[in-house]
Amino acid sequence: MSTRHESAHLHVSGRALYTDDIPLPANTLHGAFGLSSIAHGRIRTMDLAPVLASPGVVAVATAADVPGENNYGSAVHDDPIFAPDVVEYVGAPIFAVAADNYSRARKAARGAQLEYEPLPAILDIRAALAAQATVLPSQRLVRGRPREMLEQAPHRLQDTVYIGGQDHFYLEGQIAIATPQEDGAMLIQSSTQHPSEVQQIVAHALARHSSQITVQCRRMGGGFGGKETQPALIAAAAAVLAHKTGRTVKLRLDRDTDMLMTGKRHDFLADYDVGFDQSGRILGLAVMLASRCGYSADLSGPVNDRAVMHLDNAYYLEHVEIVSHRCKTHTVSNTAFRGFGGPQGMMVIEQIIDSIARTLGLDPLVVRRRNFYGTHERNVTHYGQVVEDNLVHAIVDRLAESSRYAERHKRITEWNATRPIVRRGIALTPVKFGISFTATLFNQAGALIHVYTDGTVLLNHGGTEMGQGLFTKVAEVVANELGLPMAAIRVSATDTSKVPNTSATAASASSDLNGKAAQAAAAAIRGRLTQFACETYGVTDNEVSFRDGQVFIGSQQLAFAELVAQAYRARVSLSATGFYRTPKIQYDKNTLQGRPFFYFAYGAAVSEVAVDTLTGETQLLRVEILHDVGRSLNPAIDLGQIEGGFLQGVGWLTSEELWWNARGELRTHAPSTYKIPTARDWPPRWEVRMLENCPNREETIHRSKAVGEPPLMLAISTFLAIRDAVAGVSGAVPGLVAPATPEAVLRAIEAIGTETVGERLSMVSAEADA
Ligand code: MTE
Ligand code: HPA
Ligand code: MOS
Repeated sequence: MSTRHESAHLHVSGRALYTDDIPLPANTLHGAFGLSSIAHGRIRTMDLAPVLASPGVVAVATAADVPGENNYGSAVHDDPIFAPDVVEYVGAPIFAVAADNYSRARKAARGAQLEYEPLPAILDIRAALAAQATVLPSQRLVRGRPREMLEQAPHRLQDTVYIGGQDHFYLEGQIAIATPQEDGAMLIQSSTQHPSEVQQIVAHALARHSSQITVQCRRMGGGFGGKETQPALIAAAAAVLAHKTGRTVKLRLDRDTDMLMTGKRHDFLADYDVGFDQSGRILGLAVMLASRCGYSADLSGPVNDRAVMHLDNAYYLEHVEIVSHRCKTHTVSNTAFRGFGGPQGMMVIEQIIDSIARTLGLDPLVVRRRNFYGTHERNVTHYGQVVEDNLVHAIVDRLAESSRYAERHKRITEWNATRPIVRRGIALTPVKFGISFTATLFNQAGALIHVYTDGTVLLNHGGTEMGQGLFTKVAEVVANELGLPMAAIRVSATDTSKVPNTSATAASASSDLNGKAAQAAAAAIRGRLTQFACETYGVTDNEVSFRDGQVFIGSQQLAFAELVAQAYRARVSLSATGFYRTPKIQYDKNTLQGRPFFYFAYGAAVSEVAVDTLTGETQLLRVEILHDVGRSLNPAIDLGQIEGGFLQGVGWLTSEELWWNARGELRTHAPSTYKIPTARDWPPRWEVRMLENCPNREETIHRSKAVGEPPLMLAISTFLAIRDAVAGVSGAVPGLVAPATPEAVLRAIEAIGTETVGERLSMVSAEADA
């Protein structure tokens, strides 16, 4: 059902409460961080007296004030809440100050007197590779005989792919409120995708038990992966200040601080060596994959694993070697971001295929098709999972036809032959994205449902709402299960005291997981009500059904609320928990082998662009998307996810450039210097469709498929369309790096161009003169 978002009326009228909108106790303090101004160094002296003397300041907290463990890293404990003695990036938190208002706290934080002893800083991937600096040991995955196949291949190409990072740019920045409760307990209100992790880390930081810490989140103004691990830092610092002062502390990062302090999408580079035959089929591939992890591990292990596991995208790599280096740099620690390494892995293979096609003078789509996974053979991934539900052929065939790709490709080639200045480009790329957390244990969820005596329902589950529509989808599942209208269901804030030990709302799996858990809870209550109806009305359970807010019992009909009231009087329990764990999955993270994914989500997109070869500016003219969501839980929400994901991907690959100077200072830390797409970047011609009549072949909730992340990778078509336009001149393989900013486009054109910008300019004036 295309029910509107459960909070739509609140979003549009400004009444939706985000963490920053929550009313505060009168004596609340406001926090601000003091940050490192150097990339790597030892703190020689730290004088916080001026901070404490600053107007309105009540307390400061440093590493010495953390009663428990001074760490917010979950997988590897290498993330200090407050830098102990060594700082490892510009923006590293060193202390936090609490003052009576927000601007006084921020002003006070700037008063600290710090002296450092600088240490050598590694700032990029190449430097880290040279120094063999990693946050985790490197990994290697080999299938077949790639080296031998490379030697024998009739054609061979070696090149490097560069892929930039990305800031999450959630509209609501990181924020937490910590309120001391009775007898050592603490309430944390946090903008987090992972309330249970915030709970655990605050408990460790305060040396308390998890049972003493409650974390709540009603909604986020966007997370995109940036609120999977990072909120624990904000919450822990707020909790330490609250513990020290005994007062509520609200800690909110302004945009610049947020961009400086918190992790982003990993930038990657990939050196590859590919061997292929005359038809463009890949015979052997060796890839050295390296990412910038920043100073600590954070989620870099699973992110890089997912990059390795999506390096195939939709293509069968029979003989392949992938080496994965998780590089340590003295920059912010990179983290989850929509696609979680998958987009970077897919960018590598898509550019390899594009380069093979250009080398052979073939249409890239032809080469893509020659390398697709088969349906019955050539269908085992390099990590050992059988591709059982291959929809790539069906989707690409349909999209190529409906978008008239072949005809347009030909027309664009002709257009470029006669127009040297504004060129066009087109590309059609597929997406195959694995659904499940690769770490099998995270694939579990719980729900708690209360039915009150008036027949209304309060739903709670472990997932969080960040705009993606999870709460709406799960409420619809419950409404469906109990035969109730949506108005009868209220979804309450995610709360660790209601549903415990939850996984992050991540990996696009939350409706699969929480939908099933909530369905189980609702089914349990329906089962009890059915049994009660059978006993009371002398019918069998197949004579009882729940529909339209009514219960049909034999020939009788009763309002749901009436049956509930009767059941209550008969002392039937009207509250239930539900639990779900994903079946069929297993994965060994040491060998990178197994069946990590329950199923795959598929899609494809065609992008057409114009590139001004004088300025390097690009414009997305047209896009067609066909995406697989199984049997959609909510087509309107799914369309929103497809469109939003695609455009966020376009931003990643075209305009969002993170730039650090030689001192390791991020200079793009505000919207003035960091350009995210806006509504005006949406192409003038577009069509977004969902694959119809194609339920998930696995038994997921209502046979739907996950939709949160996969559409982001549809934007690779836009990047490759730009590459197509840049290649237009000479047919050479362009060295275009992502993001394809105007500068990057110009550099790529200059590198392959037979003529310089100056020469092209004179061509324009010659054209004008003629
Ligand atoms: N959509 C909105 N509007 N805001 C977000 O922060 N995050 C994305 C995606 N879509 C996000 C979003 C990411 S990174 C993930 S993993 C999924 O939503 C998480 O939610 P789901 O599991 O319910 O799809
Ligand atoms: N995806 C997203 N987030 C995660 C994952 C994953 O596979 N594993 C741990 N956090
Ligand atoms: Mo999404 S990157 O899995 O939060």
